[in-house]
Amino acid sequence: MRGLRGIISFEGIEGSGKTTQARLLAEYLRDRGYDVLETAEPGGTGIGEKIRRLLLEPQNHMEPLAELLLYYSSRAQLVKEVIEPAIRRGTIVITDRFTDSTAAYQGYARGIDLGIISTLNEIVVPGIRPFLTFLLDIDVEEGLRRNRHARKEDRFELETVEFHNRVRKGFLDIAAREPERVKIIDASRPPGEVGMEIRKIMEESWHSGK
Ligand code: TMP
Repeated sequence: MRGLRGIISFEGIEGSGKTTQARLLAEYLRDRGYDVLETAEPGGTGIGEKIRRLLLEPQNHMEPLAELLLYYSSRAQLVKEVIEPAIRRGTIVITDRFTDSTAAYQGYARGIDLGIISTLNEIVVPGIRPFLTFLLDIDVEEGLRRNRHARKEDRFELETVEFHNRVRKGFLDIAAREPERVKIIDASRPPGEVGMEIRKIMEESWHSGK
């Protein structure tokens, strides 16, 4: 895996375990001598963390367009402050969520036109794309159950099962359109098994020159 660089993203619904898997992959790559930067959206910068609080406070009612633009505000800050400098240094960026989350949540689930989201991508993340995305796929009820166990309760966790099913379907649709980049991982299995598959896919993808 010499010369590995660029962005690897982890995507999935609530409770899919992507945060754990992002951390495990970062540790694995660091153990092999790579310089790795871990980040997460929304957030990852001082301003981004403030925007994150606004976005996730359960008591806020937020207009879909206001929500969409706040995600892009956080992303604009993260890209300039963290991601672009890291890529220039040759660091591997592992991000817990990126633009596919916006397409799945604000596009497929909230109903905002996907064309608007791709226009915003051209403005905010021009030419910045993960070379590999792991979609941790899990049944919605199982994911929400895992999260409730962890006592997480933000504005999105209070959404209906139908909402989360639209998110899941959105992610699967993106993966079907871009199978080279987006790898679907069955996240209902134990974390160790999931991690092993992720490492295997990453190595294969790297050896095949992507
Ligand atoms: P997290 O729970 O993975 O930290 O993500 C916070 C929430 O934000 C999660 O419910 C998904 C949601 N989200 C969007 O709706 N759109 C986005 O673009 C991103 C990055 C996250």
